[in-house]
Amino acid sequence: MSSAVHTKRILGPSGRTVQPKGRIGFANLPDQLVNRVVSYGFDFNILCVGETGVGKSTLMETLFKSAFDDVPVSHKQPEVSLTQHSYELREGNVNLRLTLVSTTGFGDQLSRESSAVPIVNYIDKQFEAYLQEELKIRRNLVDFRDTRVHVCVYFINPTGHSLKSLDLLCMKELDKRVNIIPVIAKADTISRPDLIQFKKQIMQELGSNGIKIYTFPTNEEQVGELNAKMNDYLPFGVVGSREEIIAGGKRIRARQYPWGIVEVENEAHCELTKLREMLIRTNMEDLREKTHEVHYQLYRSNRMTGMGFSDVSADNKPISLEETYQQKRNEHLKEMHTREEHMRAMFVQKVKEKEADLKSAEQVLIDDQDRTRQKHAEEKRALEEQRLLLEEEITQFNKRKAQVQAQRAQTEIMANNKPAVYTKSGKK
Ligand code: GTP
Ligand code: MG
Repeated sequence: MSSAVHTKRILGPSGRTVQPKGRIGFANLPDQLVNRVVSYGFDFNILCVGETGVGKSTLMETLFKSAFDDVPVSHKQPEVSLTQHSYELREGNVNLRLTLVSTTGFGDQLSRESSAVPIVNYIDKQFEAYLQEELKIRRNLVDFRDTRVHVCVYFINPTGHSLKSLDLLCMKELDKRVNIIPVIAKADTISRPDLIQFKKQIMQELGSNGIKIYTFPTNEEQVGELNAKMNDYLPFGVVGSREEIIAGGKRIRARQYPWGIVEVENEAHCELTKLREMLIRTNMEDLREKTHEVHYQLYRSNRMTGMGFSDVSADNKPISLEETYQQKRNEHLKEMHTREEHMRAMFVQKVKEKEADLKSAEQVLIDDQDRTRQKHAEEKRALEEQRLLLEEEITQFNKRKAQVQAQRAQTEIMANNKPAVYTKSGKK
């Protein structure tokens, strides 16, 4: 939870200035706030974006003078992903809950257009987690482990030439979501004149591509001047090292070369101390505040607008949450009603279509039946004709038969009635 955020919000509508006649005690309020914030501790989350082996882990260890448990990754990652480690650091009586998120496989794929997608998704996911907690009825933002990314340290390869299109594409995606502090990594590998020229080139390319990086605030009384000066050094040329050597009786972090050593904490050798001063000592709270007030608010307002909430009604008049809810509810009910009507009309239409289908199928059956009936009637008629013909034939046949029988009977009678002829031997 950001203390400065709350102190600013306390300023309300102005009233009459009254000077109390004695000490009351509210002058202790800042101490109370400090004590409370100190007892809760701070969350600070850094996202390191840069190509594999550019020196991300080494720089974080150098910056926090600690040994973290990062392991190097290979260049054969199929896609960009993120690793996340959290640490509890204690300095004096102040606890810092530090989360370091680092890209793996960044810049190792042939197609680099989508390299920023997992990074953007990660940032949005942390905003979403905070938003969900904020929207809960029983929310607990005091104990909530805030994982929103407060700063993105963007590691630029010390080519001395110009920014890669991958860097421009990625930073363009990130600048709306996070405070970007670009650094030129491994600045010991580039000569001083080249480094100065490279810095100019980078700032000019960022400007011409409309990429907004985080600049240290210059409007604060105590640090404004220092911040303004430091803004001119951006992007810092930094050197990291895990090695410690003894020089002049003192243990110092350095990189050793055949021709000498690069002391990472030495301002004459690199700008690591400037980065530490700006990132941790001077502007950590501003980074946390800007994350909450600018980047998170943008995410929140986009999400709330997406969910249909608004501060003003359609006719641009202020609208309360309850009114918005009622309006949304009415819109929803109206939409449900329209959908129901539509579904009902669809149902009626479908029933009508089905009925028409059934009717035409029935008609086909009736036609079939009629045709069969007609065919049967014709066959019956043909059979009847055949039967009649047969009966006629039978009648004719019987007639002929009767005639023949009659003739035969006649012949027999005539034969029987013939007079007998007698021969010598008897009757013939
Ligand atoms: P991955 O996590 O594997 O992507 O690598 P990284 O970006 O975390 O790089 P890491 O810190 O592991 O450093 C990679 C190599 O670069 C190591 O051999 C470091 O010693 C070396 N290195 C780191 N920082 C510097 C630096 O500032 N200058 C030089 N010359 N080498 C450095
Ligand atoms: Mg690493």
